[in-house]
Amino acid sequence: MHLKIHENYESLSRQAANEIIALMKQKPEAVLCLASGDTPRLAYSLMTKMAKDEKIDFSRCTFIGLDEWMGIPPDNEGSCHYFLRRHIFEPLNISNDRIRLFDALSTDQKGECKKMDKTIIEKEGIDLMVVGIGMNGHIGFNEPGASVEGYSHVVDLDAATRTVGQKYFREHTLLTSGITLGLGHMQEARKVILVANGTKKADIIRKALEEDVTPVVPASLIRKHVNAYVMLDREAGSLLTAK
Ligand code: F6R
Repeated sequence: MHLKIHENYESLSRQAANEIIALMKQKPEAVLCLASGDTPRLAYSLMTKMAKDEKIDFSRCTFIGLDEWMGIPPDNEGSCHYFLRRHIFEPLNISNDRIRLFDALSTDQKGECKKMDKTIIEKEGIDLMVVGIGMNGHIGFNEPGASVEGYSHVVDLDAATRTVGQKYFREHTLLTSGITLGLGHMQEARKVILVANGTKKADIIRKALEEDVTPVVPASLIRKHVNAYVMLDREAGSLLTAK
């Protein structure tokens, strides 16, 4: 795992954006899995701008969904679907046949998970995953205690995730379960980038990077990945002792 503490949020976002663009130049048919959430928002906006300016072709790549709130329809502004469409797929003009997201309204949850796992195998794995870290150390919706080798699954959301998740929604929304790729997918991805910014993430970043590697803090598993890059701003890295 490689760690870089950037001067500020813009600098870490720029590096993350550069990494996505570099991959697209090198492998236009890449398989990308990009988290939603507040943290990577600027990286995506810089990335889509660079893609337009430099005329980077995203038409052959595949986008795999990382996670979704179960029961929340794709047109709800708080859904991961909505976020990805607005911040990535629409600006890049990605056609629907290049997009594989979880159907959070499906009544066959196991089938939905199997379908996603099969897609990833058929696509020969994920080239790049960009993930954030939850206040409880989650990655995607791999909540504390998630299986280290697990693949797609439906999970009861942690109390912290239900509460913090309200920030994405216009009105109070019942968030009980989520559907997510597993930590096994993260371990098998060819490259993983974890982005975190702000003082509020400093303590969980310290736990993930300096305490035990344990599923109790799912993000700590990133330390076992040989091609993982953790990109922080100064605030998020402020409690690390070994800077
Ligand atoms: C979102 C996701 C979540 C977020 C995490 C951090 O698709 O997978 O794990 O990455 O909760 O969210 P933000 O960036 O809003 O702090």
